[in-house]
Amino acid sequence: MEKKNQLYEGKAKKVYETDDPEVLIVSYKDDATAFNGLKKGSITGKGVINNQMSNLLMQGLEKKGVPTHYIEELSERETAVKRVKILPLEVIIRNISAGSFSKRYGVEEGIVFDNPTIEFSYKNDDLGDPLLNDDHAIALKLCTREELETVKKYAFIVNDFLKDVWKTCGVTLVDFKIEFGKTSDGTIVLADEISPDTCRLWDSKTGEKLDKDRFRRDLGGVEEAYAEVMKRLRQASL
Ligand code: TMP
Repeated sequence: MEKKNQLYEGKAKKVYETDDPEVLIVSYKDDATAFNGLKKGSITGKGVINNQMSNLLMQGLEKKGVPTHYIEELSERETAVKRVKILPLEVIIRNISAGSFSKRYGVEEGIVFDNPTIEFSYKNDDLGDPLLNDDHAIALKLCTREELETVKKYAFIVNDFLKDVWKTCGVTLVDFKIEFGKTSDGTIVLADEISPDTCRLWDSKTGEKLDKDRFRRDLGGVEEAYAEVMKRLRQASL
C-alpha cells in the first residue's frame, strides 16, 4: 500500500490517502490537547500506544459484530483504515459519573449508574462540541434516524465489550467517547480511536486515574499511566 498525500491533520492524528481510493492511512501523533485545544502538550509514546490499543480493541469488537474502519496495522504508529465520512457526532457512554457530567449536573465523580447513559455532542470545535439530542441530530441532518439507531445499538455493544475487557485488566471503565463513519456503500462503522485519550479508566483497586485526565488535570505520571494500561491489555487475551 502506497502512502500518498496528507488529507487532514487533527489534534492527535494525521490522515493520508493511498493508491486505493477506499483506503486511508492514519498516523498517530504524541501531541495532546485538552479543553478544545486550549491546553497543549505532548505525551511521549502516546501515538504508539493509542494506535496499538485501538487496533486490538477494534479487532475484538469486529468479533462481537461491530463493524469498524480497521484494516491492517502497518507500523507502530500507522494503520490502514477504510475511508469513511465521519458522522459529526461524538457518542459518549457513561457508567460512572465524572468529567462534564459531574460538572453539568453538580454531582460528585464516582457515582455508579444502574444503567449506562448515552449522549451525543455535535462534533464542531468552533461551537465547542455542544450537547444535542436525537431530534436535534436529525434536524441538523447529521444522520438519519435509522443511522442513529444503528449507532446507539453499536455503542452499547462497545460498552459491554470494553467494560469486560478492562475488568479483566483490573481497570474500571468509567466513560468513553466514540465516533462512527459511513463507507462509500453507506455502511456505518466504528471509526476514530479507542484509547486512554478517549476513555476514562480507573484502577479497580486503588481508583487511580489511568487515562488522559492525568494530562487534563496536571496529575503527573501521564506516560506511565498510558504504558500501564497498555501493558495490562496486552497481558489480557482478547
Ligand atoms: P466529558 O466528561 O469531558 O464529557 O468526557 C466524556 C468522555 O469522552 C471521556 O472519556 C473523555 C472523552 N472525550 C474525548 O474523547 N474527547 C473530548 O474532546 C472530550 C471532551 C472527551
